[in-house]
Amino acid sequence: MAPDRSEGDVNLGARRQDWQAQHLDAATRSLLEQDAHWFLHQSLSTPCLNALAQAEGSWLTDLAGRRILDLHGNSLHQVGYGHPRVRAAIEHSLHELPFTPRRYTNRYAVELARRLCQAAPMAEAKLLLAPSGTVAIGMALKLARLVTGRFKTLSMWDAFHGASLDAISLSGEAVFRRGSGPLLPGAAQVPPCAPRHCVLGCAGQCALRCVDYIEYCLQREGDVAALVVETIRSTDVQVPPLAYYQRLRELCTRYGVLLIMDEIPIALGRTGHLFALERYGIEPDMLVLGKGLGGASMPLAALIAQRRFDVGQQHSLGHYTHEKSPVACAAALAVLDVIADEGLLQRSRDLGLRAVERLRRGCAELASVAEVRAAGLLIGVELADWQGRCGTDLAEAVLYRCLSVGLSFKIGQGRVLVLAPPLNIAEADLDWALDTLLQALHAECAQP
Ligand SMILES: Cc1ncc(COP(=O)(O)O)c(C=O)c1O
Repeated sequence: MAPDRSEGDVNLGARRQDWQAQHLDAATRSLLEQDAHWFLHQSLSTPCLNALAQAEGSWLTDLAGRRILDLHGNSLHQVGYGHPRVRAAIEHSLHELPFTPRRYTNRYAVELARRLCQAAPMAEAKLLLAPSGTVAIGMALKLARLVTGRFKTLSMWDAFHGASLDAISLSGEAVFRRGSGPLLPGAAQVPPCAPRHCVLGCAGQCALRCVDYIEYCLQREGDVAALVVETIRSTDVQVPPLAYYQRLRELCTRYGVLLIMDEIPIALGRTGHLFALERYGIEPDMLVLGKGLGGASMPLAALIAQRRFDVGQQHSLGHYTHEKSPVACAAALAVLDVIADEGLLQRSRDLGLRAVERLRRGCAELASVAEVRAAGLLIGVELADWQGRCGTDLAEAVLYRCLSVGLSFKIGQGRVLVLAPPLNIAEADLDWALDTLLQALHAECAQP
């Protein structure tokens, strides 16, 4: 079966094996072998590419001591790795209060809840915390059933909402769904807004036919509980036009459907706003965030909901052991402080604009580059088929060239190079990353 490339580079590809043969030393090989021996193998992770010894700021260091500038970071390093304020907050809370059994609360969790609810683009909000984005999505689904008395959902093909059985029922990526048996009943997928690749035929000139189709589904079904959508799909940087969300909001209100926005990888400044949907000026019914909330160290996610949906007193919506981890919450409070005090929202917008300009200029004569698009410091460089080589092959070749000189990023949907640097990356490091990427693109595209 051909490997699925929707979520990243393939861990059993020939290029990866060639790269490993050239770059790994004996100690790294041995650790990788042990890793592959003890961990169950799965697509996109084990067996792994390489092993790490350290992470600090925007940089990783592998076992052999090579430094790697990380523009991937599993989308969680908005403030970089080991930020001194995050580290201090974790150390302090760890010494003071390492855990809170469920019948108690703690000041870190309460303060975080207050700050997130007040910052969220909702008139009045309440929240639940959880140890991962996937389970926060699960809680959102349970709450949507409770609030609406309905169970059906609409979500997008090619979206990702997590790897559990309930989350993959929403997700639209085959690698997570294939062979997993019956998924949640009533979970249907619709075409996403992907302006360049519109399957409804408005490629290039978005006419919002995908929204017309959603309206058609809502009319026909009549009893949909929720529409679940990634505000901006991070895997391949899909940025819907303003009118898309304005119409979705209006449709959801008209049909009594809850609008649940998944911002797990992109909240907290990635797109230049604390929450990506701020650029669309709409209020969601629920908003899910995670990843960077734990300061690139602690597992933490949040489901923020309209206050009027506080109707679950008799139900366990989450009940996760680590639902109010004082250490994770202390890290999250430090993340919010760092974003505010270091002006990272503005920085994300400024550096993002500069990077896109530079990439567009640098790729201008490359017919292999179909498009450079971005929202803040979430940047996608989409490659086209070129001179008989398909875009996916080109993307992998560019990635391994860059990895060879210490630059890491993600590939989404097979052919989109996705750059997501820490928002506090040094400008010289970002410049080096762009130079390196452009050199790799030119080198690959100059080859027959
Ligand atoms: C859009 C989106 N939703 C949900 C998830 C799942 O989050 P987690 O891995 O923290 O469970 C991810 C993770 O990559 C994601 O990108």
